[in-house]
Amino acid sequence: MNNKSPEVLLSEEEIQARVLELAAKISADYEDADDLVMVGVLKGSFIFLADLSRRLSIPRTIEFIAVSSYGNGSVSSGAVRLVMDVRGNIEGKHVLIVEDIVDTGHTLKYLIGMMKSHRPASVKTAALVRKAESAEVDVTIDYLGFDIGDEWVVGYGLDFAEQNRTLPYIGFIKPTDA
Ligand code: IMP
Ligand code: MG
Repeated sequence: MNNKSPEVLLSEEEIQARVLELAAKISADYEDADDLVMVGVLKGSFIFLADLSRRLSIPRTIEFIAVSSYGNGSVSSGAVRLVMDVRGNIEGKHVLIVEDIVDTGHTLKYLIGMMKSHRPASVKTAALVRKAESAEVDVTIDYLGFDIGDEWVVGYGLDFAEQNRTLPYIGFIKPTDA
């Protein structure tokens, strides 16, 4: 691993402005819904979930789930495994899955099915970033922050081999620096 900071792809200011917009839309859409549960997907979504949830103007509760699909590599296996389920009872509640990034779409598709098995009132999805060109399965993202190209990004919760999660921006390592 080198010491250079990742190159900025989405700045802290751009991210914060977009999170505010998404929060306003979610607050309006769920205004009349009781029992909104935001389900963050560990570990990558922890910062997005923290910022997004604190910008909402409606009541909400927080749950976490953990999945594993890649190990420490950067190539999707397509096989998703649930490592930790929600602890609270989400039956009859409005579930909003909060993901960091959607790449092939396998993880989010699996999670939507998982959440539906708990018999919630509804299931919707939010993701900060989508790699539009990498989609392998059709999955709806109800609240999307940004579309990006097919490069590996880090920061704002996202890691490469557990590094760079707490950067305030989203960036990438230039191949020449790696
Ligand atoms: P998918 O199942 O291919 O959509 O993969 C989604 C998961 O892979 C995300 O929740 C991330 O944990 C991880 N992931 C995919 N692309 C990146 C990236 O560029 N940086 C960090 N994590 C990524
Ligand atoms: Mg993830």
